Amino acid sequence: MSHFGSYEDRVKDFDWSIAEKELEYNDGDVINIGWYCTDRICQMGKGEKTALLWEGFGGTEKKFTFNDIRIASNTIGSFLRELGVKNEDRVCLFMDRIPELYLGFLGVLKIGAVAQPLFSAFGDESLFVRLDNAQTTAIITTRKHVSKVRKIVEKMPYLKHIIIVDYDGKKPLRDREVAFSLEEATPVEEFECFPTTAESPSVLHYTSGTTGQPKGVKHVHYSLISQYLTAKWVLDLHDDDIYWCTADPGWVTGTSYGIIGVWSLGVTQCVLDSGFSADAWYKFIDKHRVTVWYSAPTAIRSLMKAGAEIVKNNDLSSLRHLASVGEPLNAEAVVWSQEVLGKPFHDTYWQTETGSMMLVNFPGMKVKPGSMGRPFPGITAVVLDPESLEPIKEPGRPGLIGFKPGWPAMMRTYWNNEETYKSKFANGWYLPGDRSSIDTDGYFWFTGRDDDVINTGGHLVSPFEVESALLEHEAVAESAVVAKPDEVNMEVVKAFVTLKPGVEATPELELKIMNFIRKKLSSIAMPQEIEYMAQLPKTRSGKIMRRVLQAKEWGEEIGDTSTLEDDE
Ligand code: PRX
Repeated sequence: MSHFGSYEDRVKDFDWSIAEKELEYNDGDVINIGWYCTDRICQMGKGEKTALLWEGFGGTEKKFTFNDIRIASNTIGSFLRELGVKNEDRVCLFMDRIPELYLGFLGVLKIGAVAQPLFSAFGDESLFVRLDNAQTTAIITTRKHVSKVRKIVEKMPYLKHIIIVDYDGKKPLRDREVAFSLEEATPVEEFECFPTTAESPSVLHYTSGTTGQPKGVKHVHYSLISQYLTAKWVLDLHDDDIYWCTADPGWVTGTSYGIIGVWSLGVTQCVLDSGFSADAWYKFIDKHRVTVWYSAPTAIRSLMKAGAEIVKNNDLSSLRHLASVGEPLNAEAVVWSQEVLGKPFHDTYWQTETGSMMLVNFPGMKVKPGSMGRPFPGITAVVLDPESLEPIKEPGRPGLIGFKPGWPAMMRTYWNNEETYKSKFANGWYLPGDRSSIDTDGYFWFTGRDDDVINTGGHLVSPFEVESALLEHEAVAESAVVAKPDEVNMEVVKAFVTLKPGVEATPELELKIMNFIRKKLSSIAMPQEIEYMAQLPKTRSGKIMRRVLQAKEWGEEIGDTSTLEDDE
């Protein structure tokens, strides 16, 4: 049995107080996500239940009960406090998916500091702009990634502590560096969490826009209300489930549903800290008897590519419910999973800014392959005419998605960028920047983004950031970055460049430029293809017409470019 009755039943009379009651939270109370995910679960008598089944590269395993993660997060929190880290200070978590990432996240929240998780594949430039924007006080990292911090440390006087969680004593620690070992530290049994309240800042996730630097999305502890209830209803998590969220906590899915949603419900989850391999993934499900699986379209398409044969080598009968997020889930992927895994993937749509799921397919609801589903109860969603910004009444006509502000997990602002935050609202609606239509049954159908941001394998990449980084390469004179269609990742990054006089356009140079971007930004932002051009298409005022290049990649009609000339 799922937690759900019919969609209509749940929407009718819905109130977020349902979650408040279940969490025994009253308006004005202290609310601390770190405490809710650990201490409260232990108080409910589940201290000895497994919270985390962790598997690292090469098959190393670790297991933590809820009491273990309670103590571990206390221990990390208390270490940070002793260093002098205070409430509201930003603490960056910059690690692969090791247990310290999950437990450190909770420890940071317990002392009322703001957790700033960053994807460990980020290069030094990506790291710097995000730490600089947040004026981060401390960073928790590992030997593998500390060299990137060292490269930029001189530019960051505000960064007081660099905490290395796997220091082996081989090389001396440098200025501001300090070692911390969860295994060797004295376990802190009793700990006074900082008394955060609903609007206290909790998590800062960075997301990329078309222009400008990445934006720090500020969330608050009250987000728990949405994350708890959506995890319960949409992921259909029950007490005896074994849940697997394949997202990295460097991104919002990995925290909202890879830490907060699941643990606030006291549910066991497993984590696999290694890259994608169809065989390894199926084995992981089989071995841990995973029941609920939250993944992403690119991973599903990669599984489809690997074929149905290798599915048969494993017993996947434990799977009860599958869900997906991050990019359009094509109808073929839903049909494939129904055929091969015996269950359809249920699409969910939301974003870093919304903090929790917005458009959903939950168990019991009719799944229409290719549709994002319907608004979660309590969410008012429309599509708006792009000109009038009034809701479109006719079914099937696409427009801009609009959400009525006010759900608990909504971002509170962009860090230090209130102006851009305000620009996301119009006519009383929050505009996530996506387009969709709504059919006669109220299902939403994604039609595209409303900006130039590239969504590659579920990761957003700002063309502006890649263009700026390209200009820092000694051979590049000008650059334009667009999305190029891709079978598995849906979109990949493609760069057009003109070279400086006298520089020869060779295949070797292309590789060098790619590598330059990978190191500076990340493997995700690295262009998969670089095309040399004698000149880039420009408007009369000299702006590069990215749209013309993009249209060419997608085989679309470019049309009359003279009309595009000055509006880019
Ligand atoms: O364009 C939408 C796309 O991903 C964007 C949000 O990306 P991010 O903030 O990184 O968060 C990703 C995980 C929550 C959206 O604005 N997107 C997300 N889910 C879907 C989607 N596009 C189509 N279908 C989806 N289900």
